[in-house]
Amino acid sequence: MCGIIGILGKHEAAPILVEALKRLEYRGYDSSGIAAVKSDGSIDRRRAVGKLAELQDKLVFEPLEGKAGIGHTRWATHGEPTEKNAHPHSVGHVSVVHNGIIENFIDLRQELSMDGYKSRTDTDTETIAMVCSKFIDEGYEPIDAARKTLSKLNGSYAIAMLFEGHENFIFAARSGSPLAVGYGKNEMYLGSDALALMPLTNKISYLEEEDHAVLTREGVKIYDQKGNFVSRSVTYLNQSINAHDKLGFNHFMEKEIHEQPKALEKAIKSYLCDGETGQKINILEEVNFQNISKVILVACGTAYYACHVAKYWIEKIAKIQVEIDIASEFRYRKPPLARDSVAIFVSQSGETADTLAALRYCHGKVLKIISIVNVTTSSIARESDQILEIHAGPEIGVASTKAFTCQLAVLLLVTIKAACDKSEYSEKRLKATINELKNLPSSLGRYLENINSIKDVAYKLSTADDILFLGRGLMYPLALEGALKLKEISYIHAEGYASGELKHGPIALIDDTVPVIILAPSDELYEKSMSNMQEVIARKANVILVSDKDGIQSAGLNGQDTIEMPCIDPLLTPLLYALPVQLIAYFTAVYKGTDVDQPRNLAKSVTVE
Ligand code: AGP
Repeated sequence: MCGIIGILGKHEAAPILVEALKRLEYRGYDSSGIAAVKSDGSIDRRRAVGKLAELQDKLVFEPLEGKAGIGHTRWATHGEPTEKNAHPHSVGHVSVVHNGIIENFIDLRQELSMDGYKSRTDTDTETIAMVCSKFIDEGYEPIDAARKTLSKLNGSYAIAMLFEGHENFIFAARSGSPLAVGYGKNEMYLGSDALALMPLTNKISYLEEEDHAVLTREGVKIYDQKGNFVSRSVTYLNQSINAHDKLGFNHFMEKEIHEQPKALEKAIKSYLCDGETGQKINILEEVNFQNISKVILVACGTAYYACHVAKYWIEKIAKIQVEIDIASEFRYRKPPLARDSVAIFVSQSGETADTLAALRYCHGKVLKIISIVNVTTSSIARESDQILEIHAGPEIGVASTKAFTCQLAVLLLVTIKAACDKSEYSEKRLKATINELKNLPSSLGRYLENINSIKDVAYKLSTADDILFLGRGLMYPLALEGALKLKEISYIHAEGYASGELKHGPIALIDDTVPVIILAPSDELYEKSMSNMQEVIARKANVILVSDKDGIQSAGLNGQDTIEMPCIDPLLTPLLYALPVQLIAYFTAVYKGTDVDQPRNLAKSVTVE
């Protein structure tokens, strides 16, 4: 939800902090700030409400000096996005940046106010600085004061602290929110994720839950919750730093939509290997689905819709019962779990707090915990028995696109593997499906070469107030995803519905002001979808039919808009039909002029509950 950066450097910290915050802005962007220890030992800071550019402008007129600094991009949890509430928060000798939620900050504030420490902001983070400052006033050295502060906090945090008079020292701690230490040459760094540290170093260590760390330019000392000195593994990063370059596209989202053929090819190929009779699927080899009674799929948002598609695939092809749920409900529903079930958690960032909490609920209750993630060093990945990487490459646009289709590809490969384990999939069919999968990226690539019809549709949609997406079967989760994509970046209210459900109420919404986007490839449910389409046409809806050539020709349309899709194996249609729903959202948002890559109120990784 927020981005944290810290540096103990040889050069002025401000420009380096700002450059790193640019790479963290996707995590939260309603305000930002940096602080540094000046040559006289005092701490100075600059903060600004709004996008990072506001802070950059401020620094032009009010430069900040100092080689030891911390920085933050904020997604507000407590307190409006204002300069007053922007991090870093400084109290006495301490300056703090924080990602997470301190759940007992009200109680702490009350305690502090009785000792004369008054809060000046609306944030929970300021309380961290107040507690630490009080310990320092009581005579504790900074490290001990910081450690004692941690013991007072309930909730989740990733924290970086600077102390007046100490320009070779940053205190860091994590509990529930990710934090990584970066190793430089006589420099040390701290960041919420590897992407922020990429331009500074390729050598990092992730703090583990409840770790805290003391950074100096000479290195880092990491301690566990009991205060024991521990060593954490070093990861060498190999991610391309092109992730933060739009490469000529107008937005990261546009770039990442067009990256899907390449990303899918990598995702699919990474789970295929050569067998005696040709290529075979090489995934979850240690799991024999013959002995699995149920598959549980849990995620949030777009990742959940990928799970929804997988439910249809697994139940129909592998004949295994599937339970899906959004993580924020699953974790509190506390469902009974069978020991012969597997639980799969899908998360692009691997840091979504609700999904992580749902995973932790399953510990010790199921046969195996599997995570399907884009970041294999993430918290969700590290707490899984088995990690399935989706190989989408860094996804910067807040609206998930290539991660969604790569999640679908991995889930389909798991489905087919499960079907093979249960002898529900013949060798012949397996060979055909592998071929279809290997050809899929080029089908997507060809489709992306001619998407003008979508721009025309999007232009009409950009003036609507309410939009419906309808789908049946595998297209129902796509309708839900299409509605999410559209509303999260264009701010137009949109809903996804099972086509067959419309007549049970929502059809009351239909009139000539309501565009209805119908996802209906010419598959076994096509005729049923056409009946639903006629029901809304009869009530003057502006229908947009997304189908293949046969589906459009047979629809008997009279002037309604259409988006023609290539004809492919119905099994793979979710991966293909993800493109038009993404592009509809993208072009509609562009016409509306909203911030496509950093939509209002959102953040890329929801690391708070
Ligand atoms: C997707 O467009 C959204 N930005 C959001 O729903 C996202 O899918 C959700 O927050 C889950 O994120 P994760 O995959 O990183 O867990």
